[in-house]
Amino acid sequence: MKTYRIGIIGFGYIGKVHAFGHENLRYFFQDLPFRSEITHVCTSHGKSAEAASKFLGGAKGCLDYREITENPDVDVVHICTPNHCHKDAVLSAMAHNKHIYCDKPLTVTLDEALEIERALPSYKGIHQMTLQLRFFPGTLRARQLVEEGFLGRPLQFRCSFLHSGNIDQKNPLRWRYEGALGGGVIADLGSHAFDLTSFLLGPVARVSAMSQLAVSERRSLDDPSKLLPVDCEDAMFALVELENGAMGTVEATKLATGAEDEMRLEIHGTQGAIRFNSMDPHHLDIYDVRQPDAPIGGTRGWTKVDTGQRFGPPANFPATKSTIGWLRAHVQCLYNFMDCVHRGIPADPGLEQGIEIQRVMDAVKRSSATGAWQVVAR
Ligand SMILES: NC(=O)c1ccc[n+]([C@@H]2O[C@H](COP(=O)([O-])OP(=O)(O)OC[C@H]3O[C@@H](n4cnc5c(N)ncnc54)[C@H](O)[C@@H]3O)[C@@H](O)[C@H]2O)c1
Repeated sequence: MKTYRIGIIGFGYIGKVHAFGHENLRYFFQDLPFRSEITHVCTSHGKSAEAASKFLGGAKGCLDYREITENPDVDVVHICTPNHCHKDAVLSAMAHNKHIYCDKPLTVTLDEALEIERALPSYKGIHQMTLQLRFFPGTLRARQLVEEGFLGRPLQFRCSFLHSGNIDQKNPLRWRYEGALGGGVIADLGSHAFDLTSFLLGPVARVSAMSQLAVSERRSLDDPSKLLPVDCEDAMFALVELENGAMGTVEATKLATGAEDEMRLEIHGTQGAIRFNSMDPHHLDIYDVRQPDAPIGGTRGWTKVDTGQRFGPPANFPATKSTIGWLRAHVQCLYNFMDCVHRGIPADPGLEQGIEIQRVMDAVKRSSATGAWQVVAR
């Protein structure tokens, strides 16, 4: 059986999620025709590299990503570093034709993403972005319904990704609060929201956006008595027009008091509507205008579809009736990638979608800076 040698660059929060996926794929999918072994891990400090290596049962730890991207003993490269480190590692992995699994967003700026786009034609590996919100059974079923024409003509949508973490003024100034390092909510949550919107409804044509910075100073990590300025947004609100003419809103915020990790999505079409909430991931709500509304209410109304763990084969664990969570969507996202690697076919969402999201986020940033509608530059 083929064993893929995995190198993970960055082993903080999400690096562990990617590692969990590899270590557990064989439990979730029946008769998996390949195995993966995490052989290399890279972090930014000697101590964390040592700890990561130990945690991963002896994977070789290093401090220079090129020991992974240029290494003939590595087949698959995971990019799990802060956003400002993505571009160089992706380009290096591409230059060595590694298979690449890159967490969102692809880069900090659109210019960086366009550098990657220019390198794509000569790159031979399989590549995928980590955009796991598409990989809930509820969002996968939503996509099927859209493709089957359930909505009729899509008219409107609302997509809100709600967190509350930035309200806490005690959070120190980590990379997520620094624009140059790829911080800000547009990149962190907006990337997911714009991916889900385009996954279900197609490309964004133009946006009118504004952003909000509520906590403008945060404690220095090195010297907690010192306050440093924050230069990127805590929240973003965008009016969005799609290329298919549908209109709606995309909101991404870390100032939503009471929210945990809530992706709310509603789509309204001439024949039906779809509603998904990541805090109720077992269900997809659907509304079918074609159902009779008489006598009295007929059978028309919102229906809760049990999507549970209904991924279809080869996923066979846990049972379809079991409730599902965020981590399981990550496992499915990784499986989609590894299955494509093993079969030698293109994966979706690939780096191209990472670049597309950068184009949209660039328009959002331009619009919130100028106050004017901005067309997505293609
Ligand atoms: N898809 C999701 O659900 C999701 C969730 C969280 C984070 N992310 C993404 O994952 C990435 C990492 O986020 P995180 O929360 O894990 O960050 P983190 O700060 O927890 O971890 C970052 C890791 O990168 C390492 N690192 C930093 N600079 C490095 C360098 N120059 N070379 C090598 N290693 C370096 C650090 O040592 C650490 O191990 C970001 O791109 C973020 O947007 C995605």
